[in-house]
Amino acid sequence: MNKISFIDLKTQYSVLEQNIKNSISNVLESGQFILGPIVEEAELLLSKYTEAKNTVTVSSGTDALFVSLLALDIGPGSKVFLPSFTYTATAEVIALLQATPVFVDVDELTYNISSIDLNLKINSYKKSELNNSAIIAVDLFGQPADYPILQKIADEHGLHLISDAAQSFGGVINDMKVGKLAPITTTSFYPTKPLSCYGDGGAIFTDDNDVAKKIKSIRSHGISNDPYENIRIGTNARFDAIQAAIIINKLSIFDEELTQRRKIASIYDQELGEYVLLPRIQTEMKSAWAHYTIRTKKRNAMRKFLLENDIPTMIYYPKPMHKQIAYQNYHNHKDALPNSEMLCNEVLSLPLHPYINEDQILRITSKIKEFLKK
Ligand SMILES: Cc1ncc(COP(=O)(O)O)c(C=O)c1O
Repeated sequence: MNKISFIDLKTQYSVLEQNIKNSISNVLESGQFILGPIVEEAELLLSKYTEAKNTVTVSSGTDALFVSLLALDIGPGSKVFLPSFTYTATAEVIALLQATPVFVDVDELTYNISSIDLNLKINSYKKSELNNSAIIAVDLFGQPADYPILQKIADEHGLHLISDAAQSFGGVINDMKVGKLAPITTTSFYPTKPLSCYGDGGAIFTDDNDVAKKIKSIRSHGISNDPYENIRIGTNARFDAIQAAIIINKLSIFDEELTQRRKIASIYDQELGEYVLLPRIQTEMKSAWAHYTIRTKKRNAMRKFLLENDIPTMIYYPKPMHKQIAYQNYHNHKDALPNSEMLCNEVLSLPLHPYINEDQILRITSKIKEFLKK
């Protein structure tokens, strides 16, 4: 029996090995390691894929968020509404800029930000307190947040809208791809993400040419066209050429991989529907299936049983942000976020990657059924 991996980057490498080696060798011979023509080529291909007018690559998904907030001048006084059920990167960039993160509950079925709780949280502020404020929606596990509704809420209250699409590159709403769904979209190329490189990396997508220009300047220390003219405060968030070469190669098989991910998710759906709560994908949406995350009240015991049977699983995430020590000063602890808290106790992510085969999936689902019959 072949071993089941939670995510399998080795098999993916064996598919692309020769091309990746050639591309890396070309970069080594070019002598241009930071930004430059290969990075520009990756940006063009990413824009072509997403249909976003501009792609600016950066050094990580966290920096993609940080640079985007800097470009919007988010800082002291700004409120930034975000889901509590997310990875810490979404929240920390807000606090680093001395803006106030406002934690919002999520929908218990889609796991994404709840528009009902978002409205409640926004309405708890006076209009004058929401100057230069923003919403960061997160596309958790690969399913886009409900951007048509979120954009309406953002417009109504004069808020910026950013999509944290670290997990959802390849996701779709009504044929429109992630990268095009919000005025600014950020993604991550961390190795376990749907489109990934062999190190840290990320990108920002926007149709707004002025914002793109500002973001490009901020990622390189706030320079103008002249590299020694600093026209604003920036940082070093540049992408490197070797990682760009990896992204170009992986993009060439990305759609095939996405088809595989969707096929695997549909097998899980068919096999597990009667046994556990399945991730709910809205009808007009397609997930990028970064993770297939079920819900069960017997989560911890199920995880232990699966591990004893050589089936790796992960808990994304065990604690919501509003309960983390790091953010205790930002949350009124009388204010419960019940769905975020419940999900942290019940979610379990199952193995999902393009190279897992149907027999392996059926082994996983039969072990889950065996556990539930015990
Ligand atoms: C929702 C979310 N936002 C942001 C990030 C940060 O991306 P990176 O690890 O590339 O900095 C991640 C990565 O794990 C993430 O899952």
